[in-house]
Amino acid sequence: MTSLLYQILFEGLAEGIINDLRNVNSLGEIQEIVTKRYNLKQIGDGTTRNVYDLWEDRVLKLAKHPDNSVSNLQEVESYKCLGKEFAAEVYEYDSINYYWLVMEKVELITSNREYQLKLKELLGIGLGYKEIADKFPEFGFPVHGNGSDFHRMSNIFQAERYPKWHPNRTLKDLLCKNSPWFKELNNRLVKCRVFAGDLGMGNSGFRIGTGELVLLDYGFEMIEGDQSAC
Ligand SMILES: Nc1ncnc2c1ncn2[C@@H]1O[C@H](COP(=O)(O)OP(=O)(O)O)[C@@H](O)[C@H]1O
Ligand SMILES: [Mg+2]
Repeated sequence: MTSLLYQILFEGLAEGIINDLRNVNSLGEIQEIVTKRYNLKQIGDGTTRNVYDLWEDRVLKLAKHPDNSVSNLQEVESYKCLGKEFAAEVYEYDSINYYWLVMEKVELITSNREYQLKLKELLGIGLGYKEIADKFPEFGFPVHGNGSDFHRMSNIFQAERYPKWHPNRTLKDLLCKNSPWFKELNNRLVKCRVFAGDLGMGNSGFRIGTGELVLLDYGFEMIEGDQSAC
């Protein structure tokens, strides 16, 4: 009973915030409403957006600068194409300026081990993360920065971008053949023109309640020629 009441109260509050946001046009006024009027708690700081806790199962993504609205626009369009199976849901958005959007809150992945176990299950080739890295050097090669796990999945999706490290596309072909999850996600990224360069632990999360692996930051456009379908 208490939790139902709590839910109704917070749902009402969240609706109130969204209504207020829809009534102003400048990013400055929007930021003021979020940080001053409602004092929402900031839970994320991205490249182009600040992320706030809206209520129990939703977050508000707010552009840091008017030009950053392109990330929200791209994410809204990508969501419509990728669908709920692979991406955190987008519920509502600023359809005029794309300064903000409301997204399903997911559980962030903080442990490599957890992420690797999930990948082992989804990749379906009976190999753990380390075994894959040992057997397929292209998986372990740190293309970006610190070469953390965060980026290694993106190396595979973008095998075409790094032909030197994927001479025969062996791992990608193997995954296309053996993992329905990989194949479907890869092909949807290509079809929906979503940039895979950042995909990995840091840009994915576990769906609350079901534990499914879903993308949470997919606001970039694919670079032509870097990704191709299975
Ligand atoms: N749906 C979400 N649920 C929970 N936390 C999120 C969600 N989306 C983003 N975050 C947090 O906010 C941070 C910034 O969001 P992100 O989408 O990566 O913004 P940007 O595109 O500007 O980098 C993320 O790294 C993550 O920690
Ligand atoms: Mg980000």
